[in-house]
Amino acid sequence: MSKRFSSGLLLILVIVIVHGSGCKQARVARAETDIKLGERIYLENCAACHGQKGDGKGPEADRLKTKPRDFTTGQYKFRSTPSGSLPRDEDIFRTVSRGVRTTSMLAQLHLSEKERWAVAEYLKTFSPRFHAEKSVEPLAIPAKPAFTPRLIALGKTEYQEAGCVACHGADGRGDGRSSKDLKDDSGNSILSTDLTLKPFKSGPEPEDLFRTISTGLNGTPMPSYGNTLTEQERWALVSYILSIATRERPRGMMGLVGEETQAMMIDMRAAMGGMMGGKGMMRRGGGKMDKNMKDMMGR
Ligand code: HEC
Ligand code: HEC
Repeated sequence: MSKRFSSGLLLILVIVIVHGSGCKQARVARAETDIKLGERIYLENCAACHGQKGDGKGPEADRLKTKPRDFTTGQYKFRSTPSGSLPRDEDIFRTVSRGVRTTSMLAQLHLSEKERWAVAEYLKTFSPRFHAEKSVEPLAIPAKPAFTPRLIALGKTEYQEAGCVACHGADGRGDGRSSKDLKDDSGNSILSTDLTLKPFKSGPEPEDLFRTISTGLNGTPMPSYGNTLTEQERWALVSYILSIATRERPRGMMGLVGEETQAMMIDMRAAMGGMMGGKGMMRRGGGKMDKNMKDMMGR
């Protein structure tokens, strides 16, 4: 190798190393500004319910029936990861962007995407688990099959055989015999969902129900079936649930459902942001009309 060639190589190597460490510094600096931004967004938009310390004990929490999440435990209901695992960043971002329908957790579409990612990052600082545990791969959601009458019939059988009846009831109305006195891990009463009523907490798409049946809802009696039922059986259950979910929950003011109305009194900006899909006067940053919000407005 010629001397000139090898010193050239050395130079490239040095540049790569310096550049690489520069990137890392830039990344760390960016993470820090994100956390600062996330903290500000959190205190302004979330602490009223979730509490300044993230323990779910905000000043509004007392009067809400479905209690705000306590983020210090690292228990998240809405995840793409197996039962008991931490959620992925995308899971937190999805919930912040869509909200949890029927509860006071409104879609936070008055916040820009950057602000929603930042506050999702900030939530993780409340639980030491995010430091201690590695992030877990999401469960696969295979392509949705055609919801044929045969698949729906299989779902109906599966619904009996897998034991959904015990909690969700023979007709899916949430009145199964084990449904009385159910509690979540914080000791609060929790109802088995009436599966004949839309909208669902999990989200508006069949894939959202598939995810929930596969992963379960951490911190609640809703088990995970990712290991015990095949993908086809889980899709069959989704098709069956959608076939019985023919009723709509009563809509209140502005098309809001259940405790969403209380949330509007607490955070008008989020309610308006949701209505406008992050557009209009309340717009702070981009955001297309969210599909969930279109659904909320009944279009
Ligand atoms: C008006 C009250 C209220 C406000 C304000 C609020 N939340 Fe919530 N949030 C709730 C409630 C109630 C739940 C629990 C829903 C459930 O368990 O079904 C919840 C659940 C969540 C979850 C779901 C966690 C899981 O289990 O998967 C996330 C994430 C979340 N909130 C983030 C936020 C962020 C971030 C903000 C502010 C930008 C915010 N929330 C503002 C009431 C609120
Ligand atoms: C031990 C009781 C129990 C059993 C058994 C059970 N569930 Fe659930 N399920 C619950 C509870 C409680 C919730 C509500 C959680 C919440 O509101 O946060 C729930 C929620 C759900 C949801 C989410 C609804 C929404 O709003 O997004 C779906 C879907 C669901 N269950 C389907 C099933 C299916 C299918 C089976 C059987 C394979 C099943 N469940 C078995 C207790 C149970």
